[in-house]
Amino acid sequence: MIEIVVNGIRHRFDGDPATPLLWFLRDELGLVGTRFGCGAGLCGCCTVHVGNDAVRSCGIALSDINGAVTTIEGLGANGLHPLQRAWIEHAVPQCGYCQSGQLMQAAALLTAKPHPSDAEINEAMTGNLCRCGTYPRIHAAIKQAASAGSETSAKPPVTTPENARVR
Ligand code: FES
Ligand code: FES
Repeated sequence: MIEIVVNGIRHRFDGDPATPLLWFLRDELGLVGTRFGCGAGLCGCCTVHVGNDAVRSCGIALSDINGAVTTIEGLGANGLHPLQRAWIEHAVPQCGYCQSGQLMQAAALLTAKPHPSDAEINEAMTGNLCRCGTYPRIHAAIKQAASAGSETSAKPPVTTPENARVR
């Protein structure tokens, strides 16, 4: 039996512990905002947070998860995250397929570095691919959210395995 906290809710799973997190999110919990792209850790579509870290959910087994998981559905649990507001203002998405992964990667960056340089943004985002080429708008939106300063830290309260609600 695996116990896993996703967006503040504790879940139990008695299937294969080697099941990739992405499959669990989409097929078991119906959280389809996290996307399947390459399935090989190469595109960033499936990025979620484990604790404060950006993680490729296609490449991590449930048994290897050592913290609370946040998906795009939980990013703005108390209203839109500053990045989501900036994304809207800059009309970042084109087809939209990669964008939940882009947002989760960017959110992890701003948690670690609230005021990243251009080079730090480029380095953090380099593994998140966008076939539509929205990279300039992604970069601009991250800069705007970062310039919002302390507002950027208005993340939902950190959920830990201890304070999660049980479903
Ligand atoms: S689907 Fe996970 S990195 Fe591409
Ligand atoms: S917006 Fe289409 S793949 Fe990124």
